[in-house]
Amino acid sequence: MVRDAAACARIKHLGKYEIGKTLGEGNFGKVKYARNVNTGNEFAIKILDKRRIRSLKIDDQIKREIGTLKLLRHPNVIRLHEVLASKSKIYMVLEYAMGGELFDKIALNGKFRENDGRKLFQQLIDAISYCHEKGVYHRDLKPENVLVDMEGCIKISDFGLSALHQHIGNDGMLHTTCGSPNYVAPEVLKNRGYDGALSDIWSCGVILYVVLTGYLPFDDRNLAVLYQKIFNGNVQIPKRLSPGAKNMIKKMLDPDPNTRMKMDEIKSDDWFQQDYIPAIPEDENGIHYYHDDTFSIDEQNDSDSKGSFMPNKINAFQLIGMSSCLDLSGLFEKDHVSERKVVFASNHCSKELPERIKCISVDNGFEVTKRNKKLKIMQRYTGSSNPCGLFSASAEVFEISQFVSVVEISKFHGDSPLYREFCTKLSNELGMLKSTVT
Ligand code: ADE
Repeated sequence: MVRDAAACARIKHLGKYEIGKTLGEGNFGKVKYARNVNTGNEFAIKILDKRRIRSLKIDDQIKREIGTLKLLRHPNVIRLHEVLASKSKIYMVLEYAMGGELFDKIALNGKFRENDGRKLFQQLIDAISYCHEKGVYHRDLKPENVLVDMEGCIKISDFGLSALHQHIGNDGMLHTTCGSPNYVAPEVLKNRGYDGALSDIWSCGVILYVVLTGYLPFDDRNLAVLYQKIFNGNVQIPKRLSPGAKNMIKKMLDPDPNTRMKMDEIKSDDWFQQDYIPAIPEDENGIHYYHDDTFSIDEQNDSDSKGSFMPNKINAFQLIGMSSCLDLSGLFEKDHVSERKVVFASNHCSKELPERIKCISVDNGFEVTKRNKKLKIMQRYTGSSNPCGLFSASAEVFEISQFVSVVEISKFHGDSPLYREFCTKLSNELGMLKSTVT
């Protein structure tokens, strides 16, 4: 009994989560196992140190990237369920991949048979192409980021969190991860700018090689020799692999990004297509709702290392006041949706989006004025229409990456069904996914 109480006292809590063992460790903090005490569901919590983020001046980038991650819903990509914050930490509550790292499996059991390896490769390519279609690149695909679930299916972690893989060097420049270069494309190692889609394809080629052979395509204890091997793309492919697998590896590990196999070529390749069942992304509804009291924060004792703490709920505006550097307000969902704010992702150019929004609004009989960076959209009472049909709203565009923007529409006042209809129209014309605002 006494021992039970002592054991209970030692268990750390974060709100409704009971925190367990460390699953992994990165540049910015640990990943811990967690269990929701109400439902028993398991999660992995990535803990980011705000001070470190601030000192590297990547707070805006982290905020944007977490926002992007929220948009990714694919069975082979680790889901971000919610984000909590305390004074000194950000807690990303992630889907838990019970099988751990794929490469630990290979280290334990050896290479996969070609058919089983191809199945994993198909899942990997499914996940990567889904994210690429949304304009999100991984940029740091490596063993720690390729996890497996209970059924042995691939789950990619850290998608879109490129700020976590970069660091500021002594020269003040941004550099990619200082870990092992075995998975990194030659053009990334050359540090002269690169295409995120093509460098991810290189890393997928390395992963395919390891899955089918059990060892690395490029390896050497001498770093200079290793770099040379990668730059030359000099890869020995075992004879026992089928011609289809050999061809795939060779074309993906082409050191010239211009001639390297592209995503559509991989997906239409005969070897890839064998027994291929594409995964169905889960985000049929691309609309995300903002809400204003998402953050849990421990105001008194951020006793992360000392024991349990129960975060107090505060709203996003309080958080802004308390934490000027890391305002993550408005990024997260809640059980009840906001009637006022509607958000959707778009892959239209951020510079063109305001004009497109204006045209659609005007075509639908609204008046549009531009003030600072916001569009004010109004329906004026003309005397003939029902005054209940009037509403006014604002629209704002945020650029997430070169290819992804977020459109945020906020209603000031007026008729909700008309507003929802208007938002659905905008999102259907400009959003990445067709949807109905309910
Ligand atoms: N290690 C790092 N992230 C993880 C996750 N989401 N699930 C299981 N182990 C992990």
